[in-house]
Amino acid sequence: MKIIETVAELRAWSREARRSEKATGKIVGLVPTMGALHEGHLSLVRAAKTDCQAVVVSIFVNPTQFGPNEDFSKYPRTFDADCALLATEGVDAVFAPQPQEIYQPAAATFVEVEGLSERLDGASRPGHFRGVATVVSKLFIAAEPDRAYFGQKDGAQVAVLRRMTADLLLPVELVVSPIVRESDGLAMSSRNRYLSPEERTQALVLSRSLETMQKAITAGERDSEALIATARASLATEPEVRIDYIAAVDWGTLLPVEKVVPGNLFAIAAWVGSTRLIDNFIVG
Ligand code: PAJ
Repeated sequence: MKIIETVAELRAWSREARRSEKATGKIVGLVPTMGALHEGHLSLVRAAKTDCQAVVVSIFVNPTQFGPNEDFSKYPRTFDADCALLATEGVDAVFAPQPQEIYQPAAATFVEVEGLSERLDGASRPGHFRGVATVVSKLFIAAEPDRAYFGQKDGAQVAVLRRMTADLLLPVELVVSPIVRESDGLAMSSRNRYLSPEERTQALVLSRSLETMQKAITAGERDSEALIATARASLATEPEVRIDYIAAVDWGTLLPVEKVVPGNLFAIAAWVGSTRLIDNFIVG
């Protein structure tokens, strides 16, 4: 497995993969991550391995998507363990640049997906999606992938990146994989390791309240307000958990819907102690 640190080397690797005599169909797959890898990330890697002839995983804790009081400096960095996992999965290359490789000191160009960037997580994390859209467009430009793999876990991020890819005419197909959960339902996240054992138990209320809503939908409830009230009541069973948002939105625009229809995104963000967790489901 090749470890790549520069954009020039990444681009050369991607173009070489494309020139190889075996190259047919979808050739280069990119899986963008911030490292601290878990089974959720690995599910994307496996999807990429199935579809693509050459797979590169980027590991870059992107400073521009963290707010001034967020966890950038304490975000888990487990590079050696990550590489060991990726080697086992048969990944061809890891792109692990230093921040100055991605952001020159005089950098003045950012990608802003207007409207969408201010919704859901963007409302409580101003500037977050601008940082995500900027780094992912840079990764697309540097790696020139045919396909890029993202998790439904970050449902709003998917909407922002779909809009960005279409608007910037980027020749990349986005593939979205379902949420991978722990056996008790907690959505896997690199941030779960911040939770104390007590908080870990409290955090289960997120997936539980989504399940309650899903059951209500199956039973015929379509009214968003009623469904959100159900989720709120369920979340209230863990008084230590503070809701950031509960929303039923159109997955394309991230705008609220009054009546839910298949394909809508039901998303929750909540604070468990000082850890902000997110979870969601797509209405089936
Ligand atoms: P990160 O949080 O490391 O996540 C990398 C990818 O893994 C994202 O597409 C995310 O949705 C997916 N993922 C995380 N947990 C998952 C789970 N439990 N099941 C399925 N997929 C899961 O998201 C980012 O990094 C960054 O914003 C990034 C896109 C890399 C830009 O910096």
